[in-house]
This record gives sequence, C-alpha cells and structure tokens, in this order.
Amino acid sequence: MGDNVIVMNCLWILRKAKGHALGKHLLKDMIDSEGDADGFATITLENHWSPWFVKWQMEKLDFKTIESTKVAHKTKHKEQIFSIYLMWVPITRNAKPPSWNKEKLLEGETFYHVHPLYLSQAREGNVFEPK
Ligand SMILES: CC(C)(COP(=O)(O)OP(=O)(O)OC[C@H]1O[C@@H](n2cnc3c(N)ncnc32)[C@H](O)[C@@H]1OP(=O)(O)O)[C@@H](O)C(=O)NCCC(=O)NCCS
Repeated sequence: MGDNVIVMNCLWILRKAKGHALGKHLLKDMIDSEGDADGFATITLENHWSPWFVKWQMEKLDFKTIESTKVAHKTKHKEQIFSIYLMWVPITRNAKPPSWNKEKLLEGETFYHVHPLYLSQAREGNVFEPK
C-alpha cells in the first residue's frame, strides 16, 4: 500500500537470455511508461526453496529493503524459516515508502499455483506462520 507507488508484480528474464541487461531494460521501460509514479514496490524472498523472487537479484536491479518479516510454511518445508521483504525503487525525491499488510501476507495468494506464496483454494486460514 502506498501513495502513488506502483506494485511490480513480476519481472522475469528467461535463463537463456540472462546477463544481457534485459532485466535493466525492462525495469527502465516500466519506469518510463509510468512517468507519474513516485516509486515501484515488490516483494522478495530469502532462504525460500523457490528460485523466484530472490532478494539479491532484485537488489541488483536497485530495489532497496523497506521492511521484512520471517515466516514458515505451515505444511511444506515446515522447518525452513524464510524471510519476505518489502522492497522498492523510489523515483521522486519526495516519494514515501509504501507499507504492507503482514496479516494478509500470511494468508498467501490464490491466483498462480507456482507462486512461492501460493495457497491452494481448498485450504482455509493462514498458510504461513510468523517466526
Ligand atoms: C533478476 C533478473 C530479472 C535479471 O535479469 P538479467 O537480464 O539477467 O539482468 P541484467 O543483465 O539486466 O543485470 C542487472 C544487474 O544484475 C547483475 N546480475 C544479473 N545476474 C547476476 C548473477 N547471476 N550474478 C551476479 N550478478 C548478476 C548484473 O551484473 C547487473 O549488474 P550491474 O548493473 O552492476 O552490471 C533475472 O535474473 C530474473 O528474471 N530472475 C528471476 C526473477 C523472478 O524471480 N521473477 C519472478 C517470477 S514471476
């Protein structure tokens, strides 16, 4: 949640195309095409078993940490505590850092089954617990 901050839902360069500055070009294209935005936010993960949303990769694209929280999945890899980071790229000098709803985050998401924070719709309640 934020004031004139846009959520970057996904940025993905296929493995065979990596290392050619395409990630940077895509990011620049997003920033240029949303010229009025004060910043862009996303989430990243550390110590999660998925190859997606890896924190250091987004840091390479200049995303900075605002806040983080440690959680574990309630059923999968239960012992593996991982961190979720709220990150952003501010664009304007007066940009205000966005925030997030940590309680809602614990519910997981239901729209994409390979998302690292996916919750099967068959399940009820939180899929993650705070650590
Ligand atoms: C992060 C990602 C977008 C980078 O794309 P890319 O086109 O390979 O990156 P670029 O060539 O633009 O490089 C950007 C910077 O990261 C660095 N970098 C990229 N991959 C790196 C690697 N494996 N090791 C070290 N540095 C790396 C580059 O050196 C560059 O840094 P520099 O500006 O200091 O030179 C790409 O790795 C990716 O798609 N990862 C998966 C993202 C994801 O999880 N998406 C969610 C799924 S929807």
